[in-house]
Amino acid sequence: MAIKTRVIVVDPAAPDAAAIEHAALALGKGQLVAFPTETVYGLGAHALDPEAVRRLFDAKGRPSTDPVIVHIAHLRQLGTIAAAVPPVARRLARAFWPGPLTLILQRRAMVPDAVTAGRPTVGVRVPAHPVADALLQFSGLPIAAPSANRFSRPSPTSAQHVLADLDGRVDIVIDAGPTPVGVESTILDLTAEPPVVRRPGGVSFEALQAVVPDAHRLQLVLDPAVSQPAPGQLLRHYAPSAPMTLYLGSVDRVAMRMGDDARSLAASGERVGILAPEEDLLMLAPRLAAAAAGGRVVTKRCGARRDPASTARELFAALRALDREGPGVILASAGSPDGIGAAVVDRLLRAAEGRVVHV
Ligand code: TXA
Ligand code: MG
Repeated sequence: MAIKTRVIVVDPAAPDAAAIEHAALALGKGQLVAFPTETVYGLGAHALDPEAVRRLFDAKGRPSTDPVIVHIAHLRQLGTIAAAVPPVARRLARAFWPGPLTLILQRRAMVPDAVTAGRPTVGVRVPAHPVADALLQFSGLPIAAPSANRFSRPSPTSAQHVLADLDGRVDIVIDAGPTPVGVESTILDLTAEPPVVRRPGGVSFEALQAVVPDAHRLQLVLDPAVSQPAPGQLLRHYAPSAPMTLYLGSVDRVAMRMGDDARSLAASGERVGILAPEEDLLMLAPRLAAAAAGGRVVTKRCGARRDPASTARELFAALRALDREGPGVILASAGSPDGIGAAVVDRLLRAAEGRVVHV
């Protein structure tokens, strides 16, 4: 059943108090409110209201086996959600909250099963976006919020992305423009010994290790048969409509190999979509001139190698934009897998369902 979705536009730096109060009251009544965080837009529901959380899973088309993250306003609220807060959690919170780090901890019994998918653990974070912060402060509620996309679509980094997926399925969308980080939070599981990164994200592994030297990370999962690092991290997760292949390596080698592959695909009649950082596109341009002129190659810039944060910020919008062009096949590349690049490569590997060419 379609509902009327109300869009409220606010200033990202100084959101209008009346608008935030309206959205906070809606949350309290069990309604669904999409709002920006520093990473991606989240679809919020009152975390302690099981009926609201069930509506949230419905709206997204999300399997009930995939737990959602609880957002809180302050570290001092953590004890209301987590059963025990070990010293390492406090150290991490002091270093990275508010910010793009989700901690997995033992949950308190009052957290509904719908939130944790029946697990004994819960994911919690304090987001850094002024709109998310205002909503949490005004409502005084813990807010359960997965990314505000339909299941298996790329995460939304603008209100337009949210509406493309969820118009008529949620009560309110707060539009505060594009989100600054662009990839989701890093998930660190503190119930594992030693702590393990379940999803690379906005806080780099290198930065985490400075606070938790024994933290480790799993190899990127390339084999769909291998068990997944986090319940929601299915390999086919950010999949565009067309099959994607990911090229990893230096800019000149990637451009050479990708250019050859794109040319032969175009020659065989395929419409080829290319998603790559600016440097790669510049090197590719002369190799693709003929095919591009024939309308058989469409390119989308995804940030620049010299500025890895820009690739993270633009990734999901570029994926959605390329998808709308309807290519038959997609070739993608990214910069190095260090720092925030680990999150970018992780998301692209998933979009490519593990099809990767190392050059
Ligand atoms: O940046 C973010 O984290 C965004 C914004 C809105 O905060 N949220 C987000 O939520 O990306 P979502 O639901 O799209 O991804 C959350 C991931 C899922 O893969 C889920 O499986 C994992 O977190 N997760 C949540 N609770 C967990 C738990 N108790 N144990 C293991 N994984 C958990
Ligand atoms: Mg998600």
